[in-house]
Amino acid sequence: MNTSITLKQRPVGTPTLADFEMKEQEGNLTISDGELLLKSIYISVDPYLRGRMSAAKSYIPPFEVGKPISSGIVAEVLDSKNKKFNKGDFVAGSLEWKTQQVSNGVGLQKVDKDKAPLSAYLGIIGMTGLTAFLGLHEIGKPKKGETMVVSGAAGAVGTVVGQIGKILGLTVIGIAGSDEKVAMLKSELGFDHGINYKTTKDMKAAIQEAAPNGVDIYYDNVGGPISDAVLFNINKFARMIICGAISVYNKTEIPTGISVQPFLVKNSALMQGFIVSNYADKFPDAMKHLSTWLTEGKLTYKETIVEGFENTPQAFLDMMAGKNKGKMIVKA
Ligand SMILES: NC(=O)c1ccc[n+]([C@@H]2O[C@H](COP(=O)([O-])OP(=O)(O)OC[C@H]3O[C@@H](n4cnc5c(N)ncnc54)[C@H](OP(=O)(O)O)[C@@H]3O)[C@@H](O)[C@H]2O)c1
Repeated sequence: MNTSITLKQRPVGTPTLADFEMKEQEGNLTISDGELLLKSIYISVDPYLRGRMSAAKSYIPPFEVGKPISSGIVAEVLDSKNKKFNKGDFVAGSLEWKTQQVSNGVGLQKVDKDKAPLSAYLGIIGMTGLTAFLGLHEIGKPKKGETMVVSGAAGAVGTVVGQIGKILGLTVIGIAGSDEKVAMLKSELGFDHGINYKTTKDMKAAIQEAAPNGVDIYYDNVGGPISDAVLFNINKFARMIICGAISVYNKTEIPTGISVQPFLVKNSALMQGFIVSNYADKFPDAMKHLSTWLTEGKLTYKETIVEGFENTPQAFLDMMAGKNKGKMIVKA
């Protein structure tokens, strides 16, 4: 039996389980020349999938209603008629939410379970790590002694950005959605300060208190009012990496907020959107740094692993609602 998870309907507002459908298919899958038979092992659930569930134009095409959802997946090669891959290999790439599937191998990379746990290829040494490293370096241009604020700090990207900031000699302030997450940032990941945005009444004042010398770099994963509050605290020549805007992904109307232009003009500041795939030529160098820091013990990673392929939609909903610490991954 092969199971797949499809998009049943496009979510309006906050997605629910009713937006997904599980489909069973009996019989064995067969492969032709050049193809592989894959078994899903780990499935990544990510905020950008919410954008693909809507029909709106973006940097990546929308999912089709009735068709399987896809995301980063680590899979085992059960059978191969493709010269590049052998039975027993593990691969990572963008694959469909299916327990088993046939692939032509395009876009798949072999991963080595002896070098790192397989789940890490979806996080710290996968898209998450690259996003953290390249967003910070390419747009943030960090200099030792500067102050950085990270929103979505306890999530997959945020936990890595903050640690890299500490490696590079920055003062790092993390913003996250619970006291437990804030405690983790400080005690386990080396952040200098943490702010719980859910219990803090005046975010502008709280950021000012944590960053008395102002903010030089803002790594923005969330957008909305949290980011508005950061703007009041930026320094001259501040750099703001707009990596994500999860606080508005479920909004049904165009979100409104303060005008950013006066803040940018007054501070000669930079605000730039970031999409990791635009920096593919820099992946090998970024990966070298991440792997070295991991081996040296300078970098660590957090994962929230949910058991069971059938729980993938719920894991996605839980990640969007902040129930994860670090990278949210499903073990199929
Ligand atoms: N541009 C790129 O190439 C790229 C690549 C990867 C990811 N991203 C973006 O980076 C961001 C983080 O992605 P991720 O994979 O690391 O996810 P994540 O941070 O592991 O998970 C999402 C987190 O967002 C927080 N959140 C949810 N609603 C929020 C709200 N209204 N206000 C503030 N925080 C909220 C939750 O934490 P709390 O408990 O703290 O609320 C939740 O844990 C997302 O915006 C994503 O789209 C961009």
